Amino acid sequence: MPFYHKLGQIPHKRHTQFRKPDGNLYREEVMGLEGFSGIQSILYHHFLPARVLKVEDLGPAAPQYADFGPIRHRAFATGDIPQGGDPLSARRALMGNKDVILSVSRPTQSMEYYYRNAQAYEVWFVHEGTGVLRSQFGSLGFRPGDYIVIPFGTTWKMELDTADARFFTIESPTEIHPPKRYLNNVGQLLEHAPFCERDIRIPETLEFHPETGEFETRIKVRDRLTRHVLDHHPLDVVGWDGYLYPWIFSIHDFEPITGRLHMPPPIHQTFEGWNFVVCSFVPRLFDYHPEGIPAPYSHSNVNSDEMIYYCDGNFMSRKGIDKYDITLHPYGLPHGPQPGATEGSIGKTATEELAVMVDTFYPLHITNYALELEKTNYQNSWLSGGPEGNPA
Ligand SMILES: [Fe+2]
Repeated sequence: MPFYHKLGQIPHKRHTQFRKPDGNLYREEVMGLEGFSGIQSILYHHFLPARVLKVEDLGPAAPQYADFGPIRHRAFATGDIPQGGDPLSARRALMGNKDVILSVSRPTQSMEYYYRNAQAYEVWFVHEGTGVLRSQFGSLGFRPGDYIVIPFGTTWKMELDTADARFFTIESPTEIHPPKRYLNNVGQLLEHAPFCERDIRIPETLEFHPETGEFETRIKVRDRLTRHVLDHHPLDVVGWDGYLYPWIFSIHDFEPITGRLHMPPPIHQTFEGWNFVVCSFVPRLFDYHPEGIPAPYSHSNVNSDEMIYYCDGNFMSRKGIDKYDITLHPYGLPHGPQPGATEGSIGKTATEELAVMVDTFYPLHITNYALELEKTNYQNSWLSGGPEGNPA
């Protein structure tokens, strides 16, 4: 995903002689997923890509999870997490399992080094701030609401325009792409999809740096970080083509699917990976059946943990939840509107809510860092107003 693209100079035929102005060869690199069976791109480097001057271990990079304790609904306040560092050094994992790692980052500085996650796709949801993602596939400017999708193997760095950026990130050891049910047999988005190719932003400007010197790249793989010092600039690609490259989809381009009666969470689905989905809750009109109830019904997501990051607006079914909070409704328990929320939704015609949801098909573990941010009374938010759930 998303579709074939090319930038810069490439030879007419792959795997043929492609020469620099001085007559020497460019160095071809095939970067592909699933052992040449998945999506791939072919890059043409000025320098031999495997040249590394120094190698240094930077230590373990896997989240350390805490004991979950008794099963209960959880909420975490991320609004006041400390600011500082660059997007990667500021990143803190809150929860995860073998399929995803979910983190927040509140950086103030641009990255001074390049980074490559070789064990996970990364999605950076830009809640606040603007900047540029620079990779060997070209540059992508980003702004609030963007989901920046970065395939494994991509070497990149992020430059911030301002010192008040805020991100929510998803790492997945599998490819992240739009739901398969929205794609035809050649991968084109279908008419009933809530977005289309025109909404996807791809690198349009290639940065070619045929420069020597010492350049740091940090590589995440085998759950460790390694520092490599190259003897050349990592962005030395004169051209590339293929299907593998970073791209952006803005949550503000998600066209909500609405109905006469309450529509279930899959209509909000934006991406999927192995054993998880990502959904976007966006401003939309409510259900228009005259007897309809816009608030969701209580539901037991029997084998799906549900994490929601609340970005903006008033999330109608959640009491005591503030902007930047994250809730975790683990499976095994029913959840839904708190007392009064159902009645309060009747007659409402629209919502301005903005939120990102990640549903995982295996339980999410939480980190010690998340425990420091916990709103410990969240489970009790369903108790006010009496057992029938009438308004308080
Ligand atoms: Fe739910």
